[in-house]
Amino acid sequence: MSFTGTKQIVLVGPMGVGKSSVARRLAALMNLEWCDTDELVEAEVGCSISELFSTRGEQVFRELESAALHQALNTGEGCVVATGGGVVLAEVNRLKLMENGLVVWLDADVQTLLEHIGDTTSRPLFRHREPTIVLQEILEQRGPLYAEVADLRVDVSWYESADAVAKKILELLGDKK
Ligand code: S3P
Repeated sequence: MSFTGTKQIVLVGPMGVGKSSVARRLAALMNLEWCDTDELVEAEVGCSISELFSTRGEQVFRELESAALHQALNTGEGCVVATGGGVVLAEVNRLKLMENGLVVWLDADVQTLLEHIGDTTSRPLFRHREPTIVLQEILEQRGPLYAEVADLRVDVSWYESADAVAKKILELLGDKK
């Protein structure tokens, strides 16, 4: 099923919202491929995002993330793309998303995000700071950026599972046709 023709379906939103799980479910429901910009970066550098942050710093990660987004938006058609939570920080990425993506913003409150994340120790942004504070800041600072690029918003705290979120997105995409 080729839903949009030239546009990829792209999931944006804060870490812990479930973008990767929902992307897999949505792709399965729509019989599409899926990819994840964090995984593309890891494949490129041959180490985890966490290691990359430690050894080469966030700025290098952000550059590789922009390249991964470009790759994901430009390879083939009919793909569901999960992105890292900070992909919207760079204006160049936001422009690409608005131009080439049908963008779905997955949103949630801090409590839901913390429940989804579980073990916070492997997350580089939590390395030196309290997770609750970091997540509050992320929602405040990036909320307007997600809103800027999004065609649709789904509050995942209303849904029991990634499958239920994916089915809701499918329903909303149907309304957009
Ligand atoms: C980040 C989110 C992470 C990952 C990196 C930075 C962020 O992705 O890209 O740790 O800036 O919010 P997820 O949103 O998939 O956890």
